[in-house]
Amino acid sequence: SKKYRPYRPIRLTDRTWPDVEITRPPVWMSTDLRDGNQALFEPMSVATKLEMFDMLLAVGFKEIEVGFPSASQTDYTVVRRLIEEERIPEDVRIEVITQARDHLIEQTMASLRGAKRAIVHLYNATSPVFRKTVFRLDRAGVRAVAVHGAKLIKRLAAAQPQTEWTFQYSPETFSATELDFAKEVVDAVTAVWEATPEHPVIVNLPATVEMSTPNVFADQIEWMHRHLARRDGIVLSVHPHNDRGSAVAAAEFAVMAGAERVEGCLFGNGERTGNVDLVTLALNLYTQGVHPRLDFSRINDVARTVEQCTRLPIHPRHPYAGDLVFTAFSGSHQDAIKKGFTARNSDEPWAVPYLPIDPEDLGRSYESVIRVNSQSGKGGVAYLLEREYGLVMPRRMQVEFSRVVQQAADTSGKEIRADEMWAIFRREYLEP
Ligand code: KIV
Ligand code: ZN
Repeated sequence: SKKYRPYRPIRLTDRTWPDVEITRPPVWMSTDLRDGNQALFEPMSVATKLEMFDMLLAVGFKEIEVGFPSASQTDYTVVRRLIEEERIPEDVRIEVITQARDHLIEQTMASLRGAKRAIVHLYNATSPVFRKTVFRLDRAGVRAVAVHGAKLIKRLAAAQPQTEWTFQYSPETFSATELDFAKEVVDAVTAVWEATPEHPVIVNLPATVEMSTPNVFADQIEWMHRHLARRDGIVLSVHPHNDRGSAVAAAEFAVMAGAERVEGCLFGNGERTGNVDLVTLALNLYTQGVHPRLDFSRINDVARTVEQCTRLPIHPRHPYAGDLVFTAFSGSHQDAIKKGFTARNSDEPWAVPYLPIDPEDLGRSYESVIRVNSQSGKGGVAYLLEREYGLVMPRRMQVEFSRVVQQAADTSGKEIRADEMWAIFRREYLEP
């Protein structure tokens, strides 16, 4: 539905390993309604979840984790309503998560009764601190918990044959788990589920708490990618959190290292510092010339819906979506942007200085691009007066008038809007 401008991939390096660019989008899984929701002051109501679900469909997600039905009555009701009211399009799979405990698995599978297709997401934590401190189990004990859960899910799924099932396993705290043990557990679970290329299983590797630089996480993913026993029957997924502020980089490196699927939230909602931000990831791809297959051509509408549903504001400097990210106040930036707009040729890849993406591709106007305060120069002042009032000033007048505007901005300490500049201009030059 949206136009797609060519963007030029940046190739400024000779490096080729592991991969220095991503050439196709991963499978995206939105966990806004599960991981995103579980970290809110006020978790979403049934109605809010359904509204958010519809928005996620409109953006183009084909896999959406809708909740934790064994832990929350709201989530159970949401799953039932999605199924009973036939709100799930044919090409979309809803996903629900469960811990590896019998009664929770039973409740989870019951919530999905009548679904045409669904992903059941089983998890248990595998790292040493969880084994020792939380579960008091050794490696064999933790592996047995996962295998037991996987067997129960398989048995209950067989009793609901009208549903097209996909199974997913996450060794929670994967990034803190010894790699040989993570492989041992994943191999055991995927053997129970008989993962094959015809019936693949999703193996999701979380950085439950981000604890290393992104290259180290990518090394862990690459090791699993190379060593998992049933790799060709696995969709390898990652689930980065953002505790060190590098979840986006971690996800990008992980995809370069072999991951095919990424779980995250819009605008980086989620536990603590959030899940990886799928908007930034998708639009990073877009600006490298790879269409992400998610539609952010009306990004303000998406942002407002998310703000309403989560009751959390999006930072004005949030990549691509923040109110200020296409705004230049400083004179030299304004001048370069103005020249870039003037020289722009719509047949050529986007190349306006300081603007990594055409704001129009996100449904944003050019209006906010150049704004004037005490940091601004003649270029911005001239640009705004020409755009808003058709006033073309000769260069000397631009220099002279921008000093007057700068003085006004210095005095007020505030931004000067185009109508205020026009009033100053009239006072200075047109009124006797
Ligand atoms: O962060 C995490 O480890 C999770 C899992 C339960 C997938 O959310
Ligand atoms: Zn998580």
